[in-house]
Amino acid sequence: MSPQAPCNAGFGLGLRTAHYSEFLSEAQRVDWLEVISDNYLVPGGKPLAMLDAIRQRYPMAMHGVSMSLGSFDGPDPAYLRRLRQLADRVDPMWISDHLCFTGVHGRNTHDLLPLPYTEEALSVVVRNVLRAQEALGERILLENVSSYLEYTDSTMNEWDFLREVSESADCLILLDLNNIYVSAVNHGHDPMDYLRAVPDDRVRQFHLAGHTSHGDHLVDTHDAAVSDPVWALYAAALERFGPVATMIERDDHIPPLAELVAELDVARQIAASAPVAAA
Ligand SMILES: [Fe+2]
Repeated sequence: MSPQAPCNAGFGLGLRTAHYSEFLSEAQRVDWLEVISDNYLVPGGKPLAMLDAIRQRYPMAMHGVSMSLGSFDGPDPAYLRRLRQLADRVDPMWISDHLCFTGVHGRNTHDLLPLPYTEEALSVVVRNVLRAQEALGERILLENVSSYLEYTDSTMNEWDFLREVSESADCLILLDLNNIYVSAVNHGHDPMDYLRAVPDDRVRQFHLAGHTSHGDHLVDTHDAAVSDPVWALYAAALERFGPVATMIERDDHIPPLAELVAELDVARQIAASAPVAAA
């Protein structure tokens, strides 16, 4: 595994089973693939065989949903060992998970639940990220989640919390621009405040995705094309952070691969015309 994530791997897509055969049958205009680690933590069988075959053709990043880095109990050591075994197999560009908790007392809610942004939570997350990095043998990327509530106990903004975690645990950042936008609308924040607060030398990846509007709030559904406001935020993020590896997440209503490749071309065009980030 590489100890340092490359600064810009280009433009990627999430690997989904519906597209396995297309990735294997012909070259696609996709620079790299992000795989959901949790789907491949199995001893063998078709998923791993497909992963191995597609890995021969594309660099990969590993993206997980079960570290539960916000849980007081911390990440499960057995889960981290299995992740490391998968990483030994995949040799990913990097490994990422979320700034959230996904369960309590060993029970997985299968939801990415937001944290109260307090000094106490900060010390727990920093400890957990350090544990994960120790177990995996490399720095991880921490991703911001979307949220539909805020805690009255919070004493700092999410973006300040993320910055503090990244600096104290010396981890890297996966900035999900759709999540920033969804949460900003839901809570009445300015998404530019988020971009301004995140340390530019730690951002290694952007996520782009679609959401669903329910009038007075947005839901992070990953079932639609990237929206115009998120494209605009992407352009602003490129200006703030410079060229950063970018990928599109689609988890429901998965279209033909060509449609996602075309959407990725939009990202390429925006990046090609973005001003160079200030030094
Ligand atoms: Fe994401």
